[in-house]
This record gives sequence, C-alpha cells and structure tokens, in this order.
Amino acid sequence: MGSLLFSPFPLRGLTLPNRIVVSPMGQYSADDGCAGAWHLMHLGHLALSGAGLLITEATAIHPEGRISKHDMGMWDDRHAAALEPVIAFCRRHGGAHLGMQLYHAGRKASVTVAWEAQRPIATGEGGWTIHAPSALAYPGRLAPEPLSEVEIAQLVGGFAAAAARADRLGLDLIEIHGAHGYLIHSFLSPLSNQRSDRYGGSLDNRCRFALEVFDAIRAVWPERKPLGMRISATDWADGGWTIEDSVHLARQLKARGCDFITASSGGTTPAQKLTVGPGYQVPLADRIRRDAGIATMAVGLITEPRQAEAILTGESADLVALARGMLFNPRWPWHAAMELGERVFYPKQYERSHPSMRGGDFLKPVRDA
Ligand SMILES: Cc1cc2nc3c(=O)[nH]c(=O)nc-3n(C[C@H](O)[C@H](O)[C@H](O)COP(=O)(O)O)c2cc1C
Repeated sequence: MGSLLFSPFPLRGLTLPNRIVVSPMGQYSADDGCAGAWHLMHLGHLALSGAGLLITEATAIHPEGRISKHDMGMWDDRHAAALEPVIAFCRRHGGAHLGMQLYHAGRKASVTVAWEAQRPIATGEGGWTIHAPSALAYPGRLAPEPLSEVEIAQLVGGFAAAAARADRLGLDLIEIHGAHGYLIHSFLSPLSNQRSDRYGGSLDNRCRFALEVFDAIRAVWPERKPLGMRISATDWADGGWTIEDSVHLARQLKARGCDFITASSGGTTPAQKLTVGPGYQVPLADRIRRDAGIATMAVGLITEPRQAEAILTGESADLVALARGMLFNPRWPWHAAMELGERVFYPKQYERSHPSMRGGDFLKPVRDA
C-alpha cells in the first residue's frame, strides 16, 4: 500500500496531489507591498519542490497591518500585478497548488525586519500608528490604538477585498492568519483583548472578529476554492487562549464552511511556556481534528518523511506543513518520495537528477505524478 503522505487530498473543488504543504514564510523583501525578483526565486523554486500546496508569506490586507515595511501586501491592485509573473512562473513550471496567507499584524506591526531583531519603529521614524482590540502593548513594542467598531468593519472589508484580488490573480486557496499574536489572534486572546463591547469579554465575543473575517472572505471567495484558518491553538500562558477555546472556534468555523485549521501556537506573550521539539504542535492539530471534526494541518518541527507519514497515519492531521525544513532542503518532497518509495512531481528540466534516471536508464518516467 502506498503512503498517505503521497496520497491526494481533496479540499472542496481542489485536489492536492499529496499532503505536503510549504508553510507560509515572511521574506521581508517586498517593495511597498510589491513582490519582486526575490519572490520569483523563492516561490518559484518552492513550486518545483514536489509539495502539493505552496502558501505565500503572510500578505497584508492594509498598509498599517504589515509587520515591517517590507512585507508583501494585497490591499491594492498593484500588489496583484507585481505578483502576477511569480504566479505565472509557478503555474507554468511548478507542480504545487498555490495558496495565499492573508493577515493584519495588529499590535505587532511597525517593526524592523526579522534579521534586524523586529525592533519597534515609531511614527515619524518611518513607522506608523498601530491598531489592536485594546490599548495593550506587546511587551517592548509600540502602544496600539484601540479599534473602533467602524474601523473593525473596515478591516473586515479589507480582508474581503484582498481575497477578491487573490481570486482574480488565480490563487487556489486562502489561509487566514489567525495566529502568532497578530490582529485576529489578539481579538481571540483575553491577554490582549480587554474590550467591553461585543468584540470582547465572553469567548463568543472574542471570536466575533475572526468569524466576521471568515464570513466576509467566504462571501467573495469562489465556492469551489478552499478557505482555512491558521490559529495559535494555545497561548501557552496562564489566563490566555486555550486548546478548548480553539476547539470551540474550530467548530464555529466548520459550521460556516471552513475547510481546514492549521494548528500553530503562541505569539501573544513573551511569558509563554512551551517545550519545543519534534512535532511539538501535532497534539494541538490532533485535538482540534478529533473534537471539532475538521481537517487539520500540522506544523512545527516536522522534518523527517517517516515522522510526517506517522502524523497522517496516526490521524492527528490531514496535511503536514514544513517551513524551515523546506528552506534547508527545498527538494524535501523529492527525498521523502525516494525514502517512501513514491513518485512525485519533477519539472522536466530537472528529471535527469532523479537517481532512477542515472546510468542512461531513461525508461522510468518520474514526472507524471
Ligand atoms: C523565515 C520564516 C518566516 C515565517 N513567516 C511566517 C508567516 O508569514 N506566516 C506564518 O503563519 N508563519 C510564519 N512562519 C512560521 C512557519 O510557517 C512555521 O509555522 C514555523 O516555522 C514552524 O514550522 P517549522 O518547524 O517547519 O519551521 C515563519 C517561519 C520562518 C522560519
């Protein structure tokens, strides 16, 4: 019997050729929100990797929702135009379906890029006013302005407008970024949301913004295209968002037509207490999958093909996402296929690199997976 890792996975009108996902990875290399040569290389080569799904970096729905001024954006048509040649390359030469992660950084916006330690940048020094559910700063970062209900509605509309652009651009799937302490997550967690209106207080009130964003995107995103949400399934902190809360949210999302939950964790507070090790977030994906009955994507130190396969056969998740492992070995799916005795997508230009094609044995096609 073949592996689960290399078996197809249907999501609405999309069938992924295998269960390997390239996790979204911010590149901090965009110019005024626009993708450029780096993105062509980065996304282009990952589209050739054999992964079934490639998700773009967190892509901002509003200029003030960027972590840094070099994040990719989707709040204007020129961002879609800049990404078009990248998507065209991936389509023409790659084997991966293409997803986009949409986000707003909330109270973690306006900082330097990752390799400059994400230091806060104030307004007047090149930064901007940042926004959050409550006037509670992430420790060491700028103080956010609390959002009014009118501003909340505008941001919900911003998510929908960005999704409509992603659709016109031909993206196959959207992952809403509801994790890592960014805007959606900061509404969910009681550590960052202390509002007393209908967006704060009770669990259902704290879930409201996430669900409104989901509904607004679902309304403009074609019925046949999958839509999911990445969440931080726990804050790993006393008084914070919990796995039980995540199950509650996942059930609500499922009832609204959500196709998958990606189970990440943390990011709300530097006081989070977690032990990081191989597959450390898999139990979160497992719990959500079982208790909410929704497909899950596991992520976090999944580095070995047999480890990935065991996550799937153990029914902890339906998909496995790799981030650092893909940067370190961008042909990870090719090697995983070799190890598991499977076939995987190769671009025709590279198929002679496959060990079965060495020694003049050109009779074994490897590309038609
Ligand atoms: C360079 C880099 C950039 C990242 N950017 C994003 C991002 O844009 N959105 C997101 O949800 N997670 C982001 N992450 C987190 C990864 O998607 C992933 O969840 C995390 O790295 C754990 O998986 P791994 O152990 O396979 O790297 C990033 C991680 C890395 C290493």
